[in-house]
Amino acid sequence: MTPSKPSVCNAMTEREPNLENKPDAPDLSVNGTPVDIGGQIFAHRSVMLYPCMDALAIKPDGIYVDGTAGGGGHSYEIAKRLTTGQLIAIDRDEAAIKAASAKLSPLGERARVVRSNFRHVADVLDMLGIDRIDGILLDLGVSSYQLDTPERGFSYMADAPLDIRMDARAEKTAYDVVNTYSEFDLRRILFDYGEEKFAPRIAARIVQARADKPIETTGELTSLIKAAIPAAARDGGHHPAKRSFQAIRIEVNSELDVIRPALESAMKRLNKGGRMAVITFHSLEDRIVKQTFADMASGCTCPRGLPVCVCGKTPSVKVISRKPILPDAEELEVNPRSRSAKLRVAEKL
Ligand SMILES: C[S@@+](CC[C@H](N)C(=O)[O-])C[C@H]1O[C@@H](n2cnc3c(N)ncnc32)[C@H](O)[C@@H]1O
Repeated sequence: MTPSKPSVCNAMTEREPNLENKPDAPDLSVNGTPVDIGGQIFAHRSVMLYPCMDALAIKPDGIYVDGTAGGGGHSYEIAKRLTTGQLIAIDRDEAAIKAASAKLSPLGERARVVRSNFRHVADVLDMLGIDRIDGILLDLGVSSYQLDTPERGFSYMADAPLDIRMDARAEKTAYDVVNTYSEFDLRRILFDYGEEKFAPRIAARIVQARADKPIETTGELTSLIKAAIPAAARDGGHHPAKRSFQAIRIEVNSELDVIRPALESAMKRLNKGGRMAVITFHSLEDRIVKQTFADMASGCTCPRGLPVCVCGKTPSVKVISRKPILPDAEELEVNPRSRSAKLRVAEKL
């Protein structure tokens, strides 16, 4: 199966989560019930859960898409509010598909789970025979499960093979990026996607090390990054490898390239009054969402400075959140991972 081909699971056929025999299961989070996915526990606290429900202004008979189902926390809350409506929960990660299917199973046919990249949202809708939708949610980035499963390679805190793929069917891994990209390209992605000011030193160190032998593990990469950053310059609050791992993750999973096309494609399928809600976790993502919404809201694509509009494009959305919505103090307290989250909302005109 190619990574881009959507595959549908019927949430009804998956078994319900059963944590009774797992005394060491993580504490039930405020809003993210851990799910057993064949012996492993998928735990993720959904960020800004209720603000997202408000943002989507859910109609009980509406059709909604959650493009980043993860553990199904947001999906569940959306589907729960539906009567005759439907929720399509999409994720590219197999573990997320299992977790979301298990979580949504009690809701029966109100929820369909599809394994796909959300950039193919139009194909997914076509495949399901759905023409129009009433809302879409994207909760970008990685789940806690991905970060906390050491063998996936997402974390600089554990030693594991250099993988970092959200979709294990994809060809490119972090190993390929680290061992085959030119020094120029490594520097570029560390700068552009990690906003890492020591990008040149880190890229040079990687290239020097791999001349002896390939860099195989997250542990080796973390040591190289640490050695490349002068101790005095280390940013007190952050692990020295945080920015580089973010950069490599974004490159491996092409995370930024898909945001605008997905939003544009979803916008074309939204009914009038339908909502798009997007949670971002760093400034690069937020900038793309903010700019995409602004472009859709302004309509006109004429070059700046033209005295009159010649393109004739009209606004397709109204931006609901002029300023991004942020997690409140209570959420920050129970879920520190929400601290960089920003929610932006737009409504189809
Ligand atoms: C922050 S988590 C979502 C958590 C979810 N909202 C919840 O409440 O459990 C992000 C999820 O999006 C998925 N993802 C990221 N980029 C994606 C893409 N382009 N297409 C489909 N899924 C994607 C990841 O695999 C991950 O499971």
